[in-house]
Amino acid sequence: MKLKSRVLQQGFLLALRFVSLVLWSFPGARALDNGLAMTPTMGWLHWERFMCNLDCQEEPDSCISEKLFMQMAELMESEGWKDVGYEYLCIDDCWMAPERDSNGRLQADPKRFPSGIRGLADYVHSKGLKLGIYADVGNKTCAGFPGSFGHYDIDAKTFADWGVDLLKFDGCYCDSVEHLEKGYKRMSLALNRTGRSIVYSCEWPLYMWPFRKPNYTEIRQYCNHWRNFEDVYDSWQSVKSILAWTSSNQKRIVDVAGPGGWNDPDMLVIGNFGLSWDQQVTQMALWAIMAAPLLMSNDLRHISPQAKALLQDKDVIAINQDPLGKQGYRLRKEDNIEVWERPLSDLAWAVAMVNLQEIGGPRFHTISIASLGQGLACIPDCMITQLLPEKKKLGFYQWTSDLKTKINPTGTVLLRLAATTTLKSLL
Ligand SMILES: *[C@@H]1O[C@H](CO)[C@@H](O)[C@H](O)[C@H]1NC(C)=O
Ligand SMILES: *[C@@H]1O[C@H](CO)[C@@H](O)[C@H](O)[C@H]1NC(C)=O
Ligand SMILES: *[C@@H]1O[C@H](CO)[C@@H](O)[C@H](O)[C@H]1NC(C)=O
Repeated sequence: MKLKSRVLQQGFLLALRFVSLVLWSFPGARALDNGLAMTPTMGWLHWERFMCNLDCQEEPDSCISEKLFMQMAELMESEGWKDVGYEYLCIDDCWMAPERDSNGRLQADPKRFPSGIRGLADYVHSKGLKLGIYADVGNKTCAGFPGSFGHYDIDAKTFADWGVDLLKFDGCYCDSVEHLEKGYKRMSLALNRTGRSIVYSCEWPLYMWPFRKPNYTEIRQYCNHWRNFEDVYDSWQSVKSILAWTSSNQKRIVDVAGPGGWNDPDMLVIGNFGLSWDQQVTQMALWAIMAAPLLMSNDLRHISPQAKALLQDKDVIAINQDPLGKQGYRLRKEDNIEVWERPLSDLAWAVAMVNLQEIGGPRFHTISIASLGQGLACIPDCMITQLLPEKKKLGFYQWTSDLKTKINPTGTVLLRLAATTTLKSLL
């Protein structure tokens, strides 16, 4: 008893120190000052599922056209997506006509977007949603449409005039690191000068890495989120490689994330073809831990009730959108099981355990509660709720307890540890 109370006392002191660290430390870097993306952006982006399908004759339901976006907008409103936070409906590459107009302005392909982007934006806004668009810092977009190099101001102004609310700015066809850096900065300033609130989604670090280490402090001053690594594919291999890249670079990227600026591990591919149920759970859980933008790329007209429920899971979304805005990190990896954790507001923590062993059945894993949250996730006790793969109240745990979980191959168990009143009352 005596020993225990001494341990607890020390725990409290440590907790106070750590809590002050978590609550009052902000990312060292200033965020882009546009008041946007105070929590990670949520919405839908066409690329992974629909790519650059231009054939509206043969494939009218899946070509890149205003009809596709209008249908998605309708469903985002009517099927509960907007209500849980998915707000930005985003166009990726391949919306443009092959040439600029006679005034040097970008224009949408007139056959596929007969209402123009302004007409589409009006429609999307009438559904209470926001519209995202795509352009490129270099001479061409990745698919070969006109790039914005030499046109940053006019393009920013065009997007603002159309009522666009987000710009994804790609980095293909850019011939030097200097052009890349200057281009991303110039477009950020050009967007600011339009006076319209436009979320700025960059791929600057992704295209920097082959040349030199990106300066994330600087990137955060210009972008609301930034892609670091390869495009996501509809496969476990791809999701796994994104997680591996993120954990192996976490020292560099985790601390810079926060309200106004986020690391972007790319789209959610939940609801498509390539991920098993457990792998979809893993993507949802880890994108919440990573404070990632939640941009789905799937077909909302054809999605299973199970995938829909996972994407609309309010408890998991609440972790992703936690107002403290601290990105989680991998705590450890042992025997093919990874433990990730993320500090949340109100002294709570999210903990994810991923089973990366691709042979055999579900595995049991025991964690000591005291090892979580730098020893302070559950001091002196906490309430633990399992959120994924299904919601289950696990109950009241003490700092000294162990917790045994069962994790499916390539699946994840996501937990939320809530501080009890004892710790809160101490602060
Ligand atoms: C432009 O930047 C200034 C100063 O950084 C900021 O106060 C303002 O809100 C920004 N405007 C927009 C539209 O982002
Ligand atoms: C775009 O093309 C021009 C003409 O070839 C070239 O001078 C310029 O450096 C290119 N810009 C980029 C960003 O690649
Ligand atoms: C990164 O950028 C920031 C802000 O511009 C600057 O203060 C810092 O010196 C840069 N760091 C490096 C290593 O260049």
